[in-house]
Amino acid sequence: MSDDLYNNEVAFELQPKVIDESRQGEALAAGHAETARANGKKFYIESYGCQMNFADSEVVASILNGAGFDATTDFTEADLILLNTCAIRENAEQRIRGRLQHFKGIKRRKGILVGVLGCMAERLKEKFLEQEKIVDIVAGPDAYRSLPDLIEEAGSGQKAVNVLLSREETYAEISPVRLNSNGISAYISIMRGCDNMCSFCVVPFTRGRERSRDWQSIVNEAKDLYEQGYREVTLLGQNVDSYRYSDDPKLVGKKLLEAKYEEGVINFAQLLEKVALVAPDLRVRFSTSHPKDMTDDVLHMMAKYHNICKYVHLPVQSGNSRVLEMMNRTYDREWYKQRIDAIKTIVPEAAISTDIIAGFCSETEEEHRDTISMMEYVKYTMAYMFVYSERPGTVAAKKYTDDVPEEVKKRRLQEIVDIHRIHSLESNKQDVGKVFEVLIEGISARNDMELYGRNTQNKVIVFPKGDLKTGTYANVLVTHCTSGTLIGTVVS
Ligand code: 5AD
Ligand code: SF4
Repeated sequence: MSDDLYNNEVAFELQPKVIDESRQGEALAAGHAETARANGKKFYIESYGCQMNFADSEVVASILNGAGFDATTDFTEADLILLNTCAIRENAEQRIRGRLQHFKGIKRRKGILVGVLGCMAERLKEKFLEQEKIVDIVAGPDAYRSLPDLIEEAGSGQKAVNVLLSREETYAEISPVRLNSNGISAYISIMRGCDNMCSFCVVPFTRGRERSRDWQSIVNEAKDLYEQGYREVTLLGQNVDSYRYSDDPKLVGKKLLEAKYEEGVINFAQLLEKVALVAPDLRVRFSTSHPKDMTDDVLHMMAKYHNICKYVHLPVQSGNSRVLEMMNRTYDREWYKQRIDAIKTIVPEAAISTDIIAGFCSETEEEHRDTISMMEYVKYTMAYMFVYSERPGTVAAKKYTDDVPEEVKKRRLQEIVDIHRIHSLESNKQDVGKVFEVLIEGISARNDMELYGRNTQNKVIVFPKGDLKTGTYANVLVTHCTSGTLIGTVVS
């Protein structure tokens, strides 16, 4: 139910066909129109969950290309079917089960291999291999380099599993093969894993310890993308503000945290600047920021460079300090508000979005109203809203009782969604009459005489096509809006 609401929310109104607009979006089948190599085998991959998973599928595609496999968007012609899975909420798992059943028929007919990748791999490996006999390969998020070996093992009839997590793996030098790409915006993964241990979250268990990728390889990837015609990159990490990289092998752990720029350590604000300097017309976005770590330096860097987009995704989770403490978010309501004030002061034109969980363990009505009042304070332009879903192995599952009744959770979520819709409509109405620089991403799904793109605040704008081209910038005057989309006309 929460995901239904969530998906409605993400997809609501006139959302044109945007690839993985959501962080927990619908599954997308991958692939370019592929030119099959002589005797080349084909793989088909579906990705679920967050942007990191979509970015990982592109690393997987690169590794498989290296092993002689080409991507296909048609699973009936694939030799290898892969599902890159998400474990963040319970119903994500149900969905994968359903999908596996779907592939059963064609597997029987063709003798193809089926693999489960990503966050569900570790916890469910036995179940997948033994109960759901359809699965031949299970690979965790840090095991993708071993996929060619796993495929070989599986091909000779063995069950092939690698779910080891690594402290070093960042796939730094692997050039992702862009899947489902519009050729204009791309993800760049800048770090992996998470050390935060929010009590509700399974990610630290499924994706392992936090590690940052070599900054030079990130900048090189951005340069390559720019040369290929891309005009927007999104730097991805579970907590980008804790990005820290040093070439010095002695600088690890606490030493790395304490080391300074002069000692060759790069933090997130500095990385942001290096990527912004790749080209003035290459837009730079980033996700996800953590309220405990987001520094004013990052905000000043956003203000300094026109091409760093004025948009911050700052998950609040709850507006109540007691609940935040139970969630182990390590900030309280006042701290979060102070971070919001800093954004509004340093980058006044910035849009702010968030993630909210309704009905966390022991949350009272009054505490729920604190979340609503936080929404009133910030006026988020976009929000991803969920009911709490207990995940096995998390601190919350071990320590707390999931005691808010399901119907109360759903009612609270509905209230949150309703308020958010009002705020996003209000915010869009304030944009009517303004002119925005829009990076044109494609043709609107609803009307092929219209284009769509985004402004720096990450709002989607639809406007008549004229003779404009995707991948270029246009100045668009907003003439009207819905709660999900701005509608406008091009001005010179
Ligand atoms: N239940 C509900 N929502 C969750 N999220 C993470 N874990 C859970 C859970 N157990 C949400 C958080 C996070 C987003 C990616 O998913 O809001 O920011
Ligand atoms: Fe999960 Fe918290 Fe890490 Fe985000 S910061 S991935 S919510 S543990």
